Amino acid sequence: MKTIDPWGATLPEDYEKIVKDFGLESYEHQFPEENRLMRRGIVFAGRDIARIANAIKKKEKFYVLSGIMPSGEKIHLGNKMVVEEIAYFQKMGGQAYILVADLEAAATRDIDLKEARKRAMNFHIPAYVALGLDPKKTTFYFQSDNQKVIQLAYEFATKITLNEFRAIYGNAEPGRILGAITQAADILFPQTDKPMPGIVPVGIDQDPHMRLTRDVARRMHTKYGYVLPSSVYHKYTPSLKGGLKMSKSEVGSFIELPEDAKSACKKIEQALTGGRKTVEEQRQLGAEIEKDMVFELLKQHLVEDDRELQRIYEDYKSGKMLSGEIKQIACEKMTKFMNGFSEKLEKARANISALNFVKFS
Ligand code: TRP
Repeated sequence: MKTIDPWGATLPEDYEKIVKDFGLESYEHQFPEENRLMRRGIVFAGRDIARIANAIKKKEKFYVLSGIMPSGEKIHLGNKMVVEEIAYFQKMGGQAYILVADLEAAATRDIDLKEARKRAMNFHIPAYVALGLDPKKTTFYFQSDNQKVIQLAYEFATKITLNEFRAIYGNAEPGRILGAITQAADILFPQTDKPMPGIVPVGIDQDPHMRLTRDVARRMHTKYGYVLPSSVYHKYTPSLKGGLKMSKSEVGSFIELPEDAKSACKKIEQALTGGRKTVEEQRQLGAEIEKDMVFELLKQHLVEDDRELQRIYEDYKSGKMLSGEIKQIACEKMTKFMNGFSEKLEKARANISALNFVKFS
């Protein structure tokens, strides 16, 4: 049986295959005024995408929701993509929710609730604000503070069988069951007062949670009138060494947030590129861009302007630009980004008391 593991052991090999195997929709550029990730196909799939595209078009109410697991002291470029998507849907009129998955972290990673809270207040939440959320228009909560979410989770527990859980996740450890059902409650919680469309932008690894949540939503429809929640998935940022995903366990493959600009540049310097063996060859044949991790970094994260990216693409592909030069560009942009991020992080930390935290009891 094919499964995706949201807790991270296995990786998908082929995005098109995932779309087929798991019955996803391909993302067909339905959203208006697309952001960088949508324009460039980094957002590649989802579920019930048209429902949200329509809500935007008709200016109907919808929500956008995602969660942070406060497991480490740092975040990664994948989190940055989630924030960029939330910021996009926020701009398109969505009501935004960010939750701290402290109960999930306790149940699946053995992280103490107090410790999780400290980390989230000190770092994760300010980091999300620094990455571009509109803090005034976002509702934040901790799972453990949200009585409504906890009640929903207990109620949903009667709607799922162990066999079904196994079929979706390939595994049914108690902590994971708790984590998954709590996540279903998170995703449906904004529909408590009034059923409405909602979208969850996440990495593809979270799709099993969407399937579970949508199954629950169907079964609770008569009682609560839930609208099936939609989702959009983005591709991973590839490892600088050429693998599918940046991974902490692969030395030099991974840029974290925050990271000292010098250290990030050193990793870029040693990254796998599609440049040729010699300058002569490169001038003659041009780079193999499909294999170039530095170009991928520019495309996914560092170059906003499409024309600028196109210029780099053409120069590099034609051999006018060498891999040393593209690395130089990436290093400069990364340095600027990291410095900006640190500054904004400090500011967001100082202003954390102004955020809209909700306790639902
Ligand atoms: N499981 C998510 C993670 O591993 C965190 C999470 C909890 C979440 N509840 C959510 C994500 C609801 C999206 C929507 O990071």
